[in-house]
Amino acid sequence: MHYTFPQFATELSQCFTTKFVGVEALTNNEGALVKSAGKKRIADFSTGRFCAKMAMETIGIFNAEILTGTGREPLWPQGIVGSISHSKKLVGAVVSPANKMHSLGLDIETMGNVKKEMWNLLYTAPEQKFLSALSNKELELFTTLLFSLKESFYKFQYPITKLYLDFKDVEVNYINETFRLNVITKLSYPNNIPLKLLNFQWVKFEDQIISLCYLNKL
Ligand SMILES: CC(C)(COP(=O)(O)OP(=O)(O)OC[C@H]1O[C@@H](n2cnc3c(N)ncnc32)[C@H](O)[C@@H]1OP(=O)(O)O)[C@@H](O)C(=O)NCCC(=O)NCCS
Repeated sequence: MHYTFPQFATELSQCFTTKFVGVEALTNNEGALVKSAGKKRIADFSTGRFCAKMAMETIGIFNAEILTGTGREPLWPQGIVGSISHSKKLVGAVVSPANKMHSLGLDIETMGNVKKEMWNLLYTAPEQKFLSALSNKELELFTTLLFSLKESFYKFQYPITKLYLDFKDVEVNYINETFRLNVITKLSYPNNIPLKLLNFQWVKFEDQIISLCYLNKL
């Protein structure tokens, strides 16, 4: 079953599916990248590429090949930016012409996987304070969402900066129902990403949280 989420920016092209596919969705070069991988990894990789290719066809890019960079990032065809994510249940990809967006980051998480014991590894002190003030019902959603937003930001920024960032190198604030993210690492972070202009969007689909980070070109 294929899905699109109307809540996401209309400027991007998207494809999500719960039906996993196999290596038949891959080119020979793509197949070579997972030749010694296990069954689950092959299904994730192939279905991600399948979604990415479906999303690209919507904007007129056919027969694309998406290889992998040294940071494990997808290498998009010239003129395209995009992102891929997979969970146990759902796989998706979002793409945009590079003249419309600087970059895109997509993440899919299953709610409930982030346990309290993991908070110290994942969340800064202000984030933990924010989470601790929530009701039990909100807590499950926001622990997953904060985690997912950090992952989608990581995938957004990596193709531009080539920087590895840890979870506590970034801090998410939730003010007036809007998410804002700051890079608080002591490493000097390049200032060619205006963090204030980043867009964060998210949607809940059954027990899946899908988050998206993108920056439009002006
Ligand atoms: C790279 C990472 C974000 C992937 O997330 P994940 O939840 O393990 O897996 P997902 O299914 O959501 O995403 C995997 C896809 O992300 C993409 N990806 C992997 N590394 C990437 C990178 N450096 N930049 C952009 N996209 C990347 C790939 O398309 C990959 O799928 P593929 O290998 O089938 O092509 C995660 O493994 C990681 O290394 N996290 C640590 C860094 C981080 O998240 N910091 C948070 C603070 S900024």
